Amino acid sequence: MDMRNRPIGFFDSGVGGISVLKQAVAILPNEDYVYFGDSIKAPYGVKNHDEIKKLTFDAVKFLLNKDIKALVVACNTATSVAIEDLRKKYTGIMPIVGIEPALKPAVEFKSQGKIIIMATPVTLLEDKFNNLMKKYSNKHKIQKMPCPGLVELIEEGITCGERVEEYLKEKFLPFKDDEIAAVVLGCTHYPFIKNTLSKVLNEMDKKVSIIDGSIGTVNQLKRQLLKYDIKCLDNNRVGNVKIFNSLNTDNIIKLSYKLLKSQ
Ligand code: DGL
Repeated sequence: MDMRNRPIGFFDSGVGGISVLKQAVAILPNEDYVYFGDSIKAPYGVKNHDEIKKLTFDAVKFLLNKDIKALVVACNTATSVAIEDLRKKYTGIMPIVGIEPALKPAVEFKSQGKIIIMATPVTLLEDKFNNLMKKYSNKHKIQKMPCPGLVELIEEGITCGERVEEYLKEKFLPFKDDEIAAVVLGCTHYPFIKNTLSKVLNEMDKKVSIIDGSIGTVNQLKRQLLKYDIKCLDNNRVGNVKIFNSLNTDNIIKLSYKLLKSQ
C-alpha cells in the first residue's frame, strides 16, 4: 500500500487525545486515523516513569500493527516521559509528533497577570516541562496547577455539572484576588471541560483566555507529513476514524465517538 494512504496513529492514556484528533480531522480531513486510548490504565499522570514508558511503548506497538505512517502522542504525560526514547527507536520508520503545554502562545498575550498551567502531576514534575517553563518565566509569572482526579471524571464522561464545577472552584479559589492572563490546558483531557472552566472563571469575574496545544500539534503533524512526503494526495476524499481502547467496552467506545463529535 502507498505510504500516503496509510492511517495516522494517535495515542493517549484514555479518551483525552480525542481533543487533538478532533483538530486533526478538522485540519487534515482527507487522512485516515487510528486512535488507541489506554483507559484501562488511565490515569498515567500519577504513575511512575518506568511504567508510563512501558505502557507508551506497548501502545505504539499496537498502532504499528495497524500500519500507521505517522504517530501522534496525544498525551502530555506520555510525551514528557517517553518522547525522546520513542524518537530514538522509531526515527527513520515514521515521524513522531508529541504534545506539550502551550506556554508559548500563552506568554504572547499582552494582558497582565499570571499564567496558570493545569496538567497532571507527572507532566509538571518532568524536566521537559520545567525547561520549557524556565524559557518563558521572564515574561510572566507561571503558576503550576497539578490536577489529580480530573482525568478520572472525564474518563467517566463527566465534563460538566456539579462535580466538575466544585473541583475547578476549589482549584481556583487561591487565585480569587489575582490577575490571571491565561490558563493553559496542559493535559489533552482538559479541553473537554473548557466550557465548565469558562463558566467557573466568569462567575469569579475573571476574563481569561483558555489555551490548549492541539492546533500547534496538528500543524506540526502536517509539516512532518509534507517533509516525509507521506501526506494523502487525494484532497476530495473524506477520511475515516477508527477508535480502539484497552477497556474495550461499548461505553468507552461510545463515549470516544461522542467526544469526537462534541463542540
Ligand atoms: N491526556 C493525558 C495528558 O495529556 C492524561 C494523562 C493521565 O492519564 O493522567 O497528560
